[in-house]
Amino acid sequence: MSYYKKIVGERVYLSPVDPNEVELYLKWMNEDRTLAVNFHQFSQMVSSKNDLRWLYEPPKDMHRFAIVLLENDGLIGSISLHNIDHLNRNAFIGIFIGGEGYRGQGYGAEAIRLILKYGFHTMNLHSINLSVNANNPAGISCYKKVGFREVGRLPEALFVDGRYVDKIFMAVLEDEFDGI
Ligand SMILES: CC(C)(COP(=O)(O)OP(=O)(O)OC[C@H]1O[C@@H](n2cnc3c(N)ncnc32)[C@H](O)[C@@H]1OP(=O)(O)O)[C@@H](O)C(=O)NCCC(=O)NCCS
Repeated sequence: MSYYKKIVGERVYLSPVDPNEVELYLKWMNEDRTLAVNFHQFSQMVSSKNDLRWLYEPPKDMHRFAIVLLENDGLIGSISLHNIDHLNRNAFIGIFIGGEGYRGQGYGAEAIRLILKYGFHTMNLHSINLSVNANNPAGISCYKKVGFREVGRLPEALFVDGRYVDKIFMAVLEDEFDGI
């Protein structure tokens, strides 16, 4: 697999996505239920590379990276800045860490800090936002840890596992990030 150390942290780096890495993504989208449900893929059919176009062929307003372990160049997830709006200088973050064993280890928080720095200091963004299912405590806890705060919620906007849950919006401003 080919990964490039574009944005380097202490334990992970962010690389362009390797177009030959298909199997692991297909496995995650189908067998890692926590990931698939929270990343809104469980209700989709993901059976071939064709169904992963959003991963390999990101639109112009999206910068997508693979999250890779520095110690062994192993792929553990993906993170993106999407809906990048240069006029209003904002964007959204999307992230997943694949495999139960890699979650809750701080890798998600490190990857988000790296992409926030890239967003504010390289892309010249003013605010970075995200949305998260209200029944995703690990996600919410991770986002708060890196400086996001809740700015609103859509009540019962998502149908997850047989019930409606709120969709929470969170945001961080550039001066808030620089203050961390
Ligand atoms: C959300 C996600 C990217 C976070 O990455 P991560 O590497 O697991 O995050 P971190 O380890 O940096 O932080 C997670 C925090 O949540 C906490 N946490 C985990 N499970 C929890 C739970 N059930 N309740 C409350 N907190 C929980 C962890 O203890 C950790 O906090 P700590 O560092 O203070 O101990 C990752 O969990 C993931 O990919 N989940 C599945 C897909 C997903 O939800 N994507 C995001 C959609 S918005």
